[in-house]
Amino acid sequence: MERVTAEGPLLEARELTLRFGGVTALDGVSFEVARGELFAVIGPNGAGKTSIFNCLGGVYRPQHGTITLEGNGLTGRAPAAVAAMGVARTFQNLGLFRHLTLIDNLMLGRHHLMRTGFVSGMVWWGKAKREEISHRAAVEEIVELLELEPYRSTPAGLLPYGVAKRAELGRALAMEPKLLLLDEPVAGMNLEETEDTARYLLEIRRELGLAMILVEHDMRLVMDLADRVLALDFGVAIGTGTPEEIQHDPRVIDAYLGGAA
Ligand SMILES: Nc1ncnc2c1ncn2[C@@H]1O[C@H](COP(=O)(O)OP(=O)(O)O)[C@@H](O)[C@H]1O
Ligand SMILES: [Mg+2]
Repeated sequence: MERVTAEGPLLEARELTLRFGGVTALDGVSFEVARGELFAVIGPNGAGKTSIFNCLGGVYRPQHGTITLEGNGLTGRAPAAVAAMGVARTFQNLGLFRHLTLIDNLMLGRHHLMRTGFVSGMVWWGKAKREEISHRAAVEEIVELLELEPYRSTPAGLLPYGVAKRAELGRALAMEPKLLLLDEPVAGMNLEETEDTARYLLEIRRELGLAMILVEHDMRLVMDLADRVLALDFGVAIGTGTPEEIQHDPRVIDAYLGGAA
């Protein structure tokens, strides 16, 4: 893995404002994510959580504000360019190729890392072969980390739901991202699958030191996992802090309980 030498935060979002006609999805939102940090974004429905991901991932261009990754401007770049800069994302609904095996789905995640194209692959057969072997080895490490060994050659469409979600996580990891965006990774999971996912996310952080941004409804999961939390309400950042601080922040309590507390 690449040695990181740069100073400062990994990701910096400054004053992001995103509007859809009369709706302000994000209103001057700023935050920073450090290297290796597990950063969570919480907020009631419609608060702007998915909008943040869509700005970070290049799906939407904010009308105002800037996003930088290791100091390089990311704002307004197309999704493929953002992915190439090292931002990977998992989706609320599964994004696997149903007829391909689990291993082939993970190999596809590495596609942008492969240098040898078809023609040069024919000429430099030996080089292509070596490259393929190193990619297979990297994929096998992910399979081991996420305990996916029994499903190596299973078509993705036949995987049980919880395993398929884990495979999707594996495909994002196969890209060797600098930052992983997780949009509700435990949505639709039962308690056991949720606890497994929490364990894998902690494992990923420990083993790979990968920075992650987690958007999640499951408050308990966020409070258990996150280093720091950003709370949103109606597109406005109402608090940033440790899970402990956020849980006791009157503005956050107010936003969640509608002032009933
Ligand atoms: N493509 C869109 N077109 C119009 N309004 C949108 C669009 N995407 C999001 N919004 C609006 O922006 C606000 C924030 O939405 P979203 O980011 O999806 O919230 P969350 O993920 O926190 O539930 C909501 O009022 C939503 O209706
Ligand atoms: Mg959402």
